[in-house]
Amino acid sequence: MLLNVENLNIHFKSDKSSTPIHAVRDLSFKINKGEMLGVVGESGSGKSITNLALLGLLPDSALVTAKNLDFEGKKLLSLNELEWCQVRGREIAMIFQDPMTALNPFLTVEFQIVETIKAHLNLSNKEAINKAIELLNFVGIPSPKDRLKAYPFELSGGMAQRVMIAMAISTDPKLLIADEPTTALDVTIQKQILNLLKVLQEKNNMSIILVTHDLGVVGEYSDRLQVMYAGEVVEEGFTTEILKNPNHPYTEALLASRPGASAHLKRIPKTLLPSISGIVPAFHQRPLGCQFHPRCSYKTHECEQSIIELKDFVRCIHPCNQLSLK
Ligand SMILES: Nc1ncnc2c1ncn2[C@@H]1O[C@H](COP(=O)(O)OP(=O)(O)OP(=O)(O)O)[C@@H](O)[C@H]1O
Ligand code: SF4
Ligand SMILES: [Mg+2]
Repeated sequence: MLLNVENLNIHFKSDKSSTPIHAVRDLSFKINKGEMLGVVGESGSGKSITNLALLGLLPDSALVTAKNLDFEGKKLLSLNELEWCQVRGREIAMIFQDPMTALNPFLTVEFQIVETIKAHLNLSNKEAINKAIELLNFVGIPSPKDRLKAYPFELSGGMAQRVMIAMAISTDPKLLIADEPTTALDVTIQKQILNLLKVLQEKNNMSIILVTHDLGVVGEYSDRLQVMYAGEVVEEGFTTEILKNPNHPYTEALLASRPGASAHLKRIPKTLLPSISGIVPAFHQRPLGCQFHPRCSYKTHECEQSIIELKDFVRCIHPCNQLSLK
């Protein structure tokens, strides 16, 4: 196992209240070597802050606790800044959603890639430039030598994202976190970038966390899937299983809101394109009991009474496939 996260909690200090905001609650998951984990969930469900916690990049206002946060046996929560430098960008790398804001607009591609390479690998300037050319070539950038001289504004969105990927993989990380890496790109480029990630996963036996809003993307690319809602994992398991037989009403509703996708979902009306009514609860208005109950069509009195624990990979007391085993 590469990464083991057990009972991760993230609180933020709040100016408005003396009680800290509980943003991520008791999140547990594991990632094996060479595996791609898809993460989906509505905006604000805690996907990005979980990833930032894995890289030790949350602001000082965040309090991160966990029973275990182990990366290859290293206790991430006990690392000092020097030790973090060995892990962050070297063993765990991240691709951000918007390459145009993640790249420095005042520096050439060459400077940015070569600096990253030299910060982590013991290479001369010339060797680092050669490696940068090799990487740009690998991620499909034509005339890579010329492109090194370009500034980010001279690149298309797809090219800038490829540069980000080249930087992220320049140190052969064991875990690559891709937080909505293709949201800003058109569909053709999106496919090329995701195919590239798949190649990397297979070629380098790299593990990938792929955060996306697109269930089609997780269905095509990820091995396992984690569905998040309001700072909690509500369902997890093999992607194909979940997409075929969702167990949590939120997953079922997410799937049903895709055009033409609800045909196999037993409880969803076939005539409409269903949508999930209501919104994710704000931190200061968290309901008692199941966090999804104000929006759930299957709720009972019991759902509103106490915290619902994750059991058999689903956080629901009336799961859709009570008899199915994952
Ligand atoms: N520095 C912070 N201080 C207080 N709250 C924060 C801070 N950073 C994030 N949050 C809150 O934590 C929650 C989870 O945020 P996060 O960015 O992880 O959501 P997300 O699932 O990645 O959403 P999206 O799909 O929109 O990217 C949000 O409601 C956000 O407002
Ligand atoms: S616990 Fe109850 S309210 Fe929550 S998802 Fe399950 S059925 Fe719906
Ligand atoms: Mg996010």
